[in-house]
Amino acid sequence: MSDVLKYGATAKWLHWLIAFIVIIMLIFGRTLESLPLSEREQMIMGHSGLGTLVLLLMLLRWGWRLSHEPPGAIGSMGLWQTRLSKTMHWSLYILLVLQPILGIFQAMFITDYEVLAFGVINYSGLATDSADMARVFHVLHGINATVLSVLVVGHIGASLYHHFFQKDSILRRMLPYGKP
Ligand code: HEM
Ligand code: HEM
Repeated sequence: MSDVLKYGATAKWLHWLIAFIVIIMLIFGRTLESLPLSEREQMIMGHSGLGTLVLLLMLLRWGWRLSHEPPGAIGSMGLWQTRLSKTMHWSLYILLVLQPILGIFQAMFITDYEVLAFGVINYSGLATDSADMARVFHVLHGINATVLSVLVVGHIGASLYHHFFQKDSILRRMLPYGKP
């Protein structure tokens, strides 16, 4: 078992920065479709830019995670709880990398507007427009967002349960000035 007692500053920064962006994107992503085309194009510039940033931050975070040992399970956690938390964390890593990739594929095929991440990266120019392909990736991007939202709610619930009911150090060791 790991002797490390808490997450390092880099892991904490990456966790809270990514969490902040992703929660906003999951909430406001759903409203994109109801916008008129002119406004939607503007919003998608921001959405695809932030999504691209999440992808880059997640790749950095994954690399960091593999080279820096995280704190291990705490004494009061049984085997099933330890396994569940590991499965949950790796699922979040995988879905969070997949989400922007599916978004980028959707953007490459969209027929009715151009997707320019932050107004600079032209994803629409990467492939020939195809309404069918755009629809497939739109559905996959939407399904992945739904599964991700459920996992995030479960993850937040588990953290609060540890903090307020189990009264252990799980949440504190991820907080900026938290003591393990
Ligand atoms: C972590 C990153 C991302 C999250 C959490 C996210 C989330 C979402 C959500 C929740 C929706 C609504 C899906 C639906 O209701 O079916 C959506 C739509 C969309 N996303 Fe993303 N997204 C991310 C990254 C990206 C990226 C990187 C791109 C493109 C480069 C992108 C392009 C789009 C497009 C084009 C739509 C459809 C908007 C429309 O209806 O016209 N997304 N996204
Ligand atoms: C979109 C939102 C979020 C995502 C995607 C996310 C993702 C993750 C991931 C992947 C880990 C594992 C880190 C690792 O071992 O490398 C983690 C750890 C953690 N997260 Fe989140 N998180 C989010 C929001 C939150 C929120 C809002 C809270 C607090 C209420 C929270 C509390 C924690 C805690 C306490 C840990 C450490 C767990 C442990 O030490 O075993 N997270 N998070």
